[in-house]
Amino acid sequence: MALTISILILVILNLKEINSVKCYHDNNDVINGTCEGDFCTIAKSTDNYAIYNQRACFIGIKKPSHTCTLDFSDNMVCFCDTDYCNTISLLRGNITILPVIQCKALIQTVYTAIPSNKCIRIISYIKHDRYELDKFNNDHVKDLQEFISGAERGDSGDLVIDAHIYWPEKMLRNFFSKGCYNTTMSPEHYYVYCRCEEANCNTPESEALPYPISPPVVKCHTSGFAYEMNYRKFETLELTGDLNYKQNYMTNETYVDEGIECQGHFCVIVPNKYIIDGEYVDIYYKGCISANEQGEQKLSVGQKYVNEITYYICNTDFCNIDIETSLDAAANASTISDNGADGTKFDCFQIVILFIIFLI
Ligand SMILES: *[C@@H]1O[C@H](CO)[C@@H](O)[C@H](O)[C@H]1NC(C)=O
Ligand SMILES: *[C@@H]1O[C@H](CO)[C@@H](O)[C@H](O)[C@H]1NC(C)=O
Ligand SMILES: *[C@@H]1O[C@H](CO)[C@@H](O)[C@H](O)[C@H]1NC(C)=O
Ligand SMILES: *[C@@H]1O[C@H](CO)[C@@H](O)[C@H](O)[C@H]1NC(C)=O
Ligand SMILES: *[C@@H]1O[C@H](CO)[C@@H](O)[C@H](O)[C@H]1NC(C)=O
Repeated sequence: MALTISILILVILNLKEINSVKCYHDNNDVINGTCEGDFCTIAKSTDNYAIYNQRACFIGIKKPSHTCTLDFSDNMVCFCDTDYCNTISLLRGNITILPVIQCKALIQTVYTAIPSNKCIRIISYIKHDRYELDKFNNDHVKDLQEFISGAERGDSGDLVIDAHIYWPEKMLRNFFSKGCYNTTMSPEHYYVYCRCEEANCNTPESEALPYPISPPVVKCHTSGFAYEMNYRKFETLELTGDLNYKQNYMTNETYVDEGIECQGHFCVIVPNKYIIDGEYVDIYYKGCISANEQGEQKLSVGQKYVNEITYYICNTDFCNIDIETSLDAAANASTISDNGADGTKFDCFQIVILFIIFLI
């Protein structure tokens, strides 16, 4: 009896994610801020202009097993999980030097071998029919593009940490090493992002991806990219531009592209900040993610905050209609099968309660 009750209580407590660590938070917009999450990070990057530190929180994923990693380009990333632990002194701690491997890279028009810590292969498809592009740029824009390279900045370690990538692309390439991800947010868009760790694993001569992705299992709503892809379709809505589309549709959390769906392993909602009349408002991207992951981290349902982007992930048909439904579906899914990789964890409080119940 006591065992049954304690298991029940454990399940209930586990449904509530406990984000217990306070971290320093610095990026392009925030200086000396704080945030709260499952663990903290500090990243020291060097580019042509300066050395700068980025500090942030992560939510809903496992803390990498390395305390600090140093990459081929002298960028360093550290993780820790006690209050305000992501200080500069952490960068002087236990450092693991990431192994250097050979990757393929397209330099000018020639595939060349380069040294790096991770090999990257990206296949991006966007049907460009915005009329500005057709009028001025038609010859220069290809719908299907392949990008072959080594990790350059922010993506050479276990997690991706780089505030500087163009946003619509940043949200599509934020997950884990030793994996391929296929994200789609419109029938005329998909983005395959692979990071692998064996020599030349990103070779473009191979049709097969480093980690081939299995067929989809759920259907999901889409929002956000249909307009960017297919400008003409929205002319009938008398929109005068990008701002109007975002203001009129994407600020509405329940808006979805009508009569359109995508298929994947997970449905996702990704909120982003957009400036309208000088004020930040939330806009919502929706779509599907499929994955083949062979590393220590795996995508799971629930709320995630990685590389300063929030994701709501769920895995039942059309669960990404709004955030509440997505979180409900995720909670339902994790009671059925706990696939482990989420950010839930025991704390002292849970253990004390369990102990008391055992005594009764
Ligand atoms: C941020 O905090 C550091 C250390 O406390 C301090 O030296 C620095 O002046 C602060 N910067 C700003 C912009 O407040
Ligand atoms: C340094 O990190 C490695 C692996 O992350 C670990 O095995 C080792 O025990 C750590 N050393 C210290 C002194 O913390
Ligand atoms: C990625 O997803 C799109 C849309 O579902 C699909 O057409 C494409 O074949 C997929 N690519 C890979 C490599 O899985
Ligand atoms: C938000 O979008 C939904 C679905 O398209 C629609 O039914 C609803 O009226 C919209 N709400 C507002 C305030 O525009
Ligand atoms: C979660 O499970 C409950 C009970 O089975 C069900 O009523 C509810 O519709 C489910 N929610 C979602 C979003 O799947």
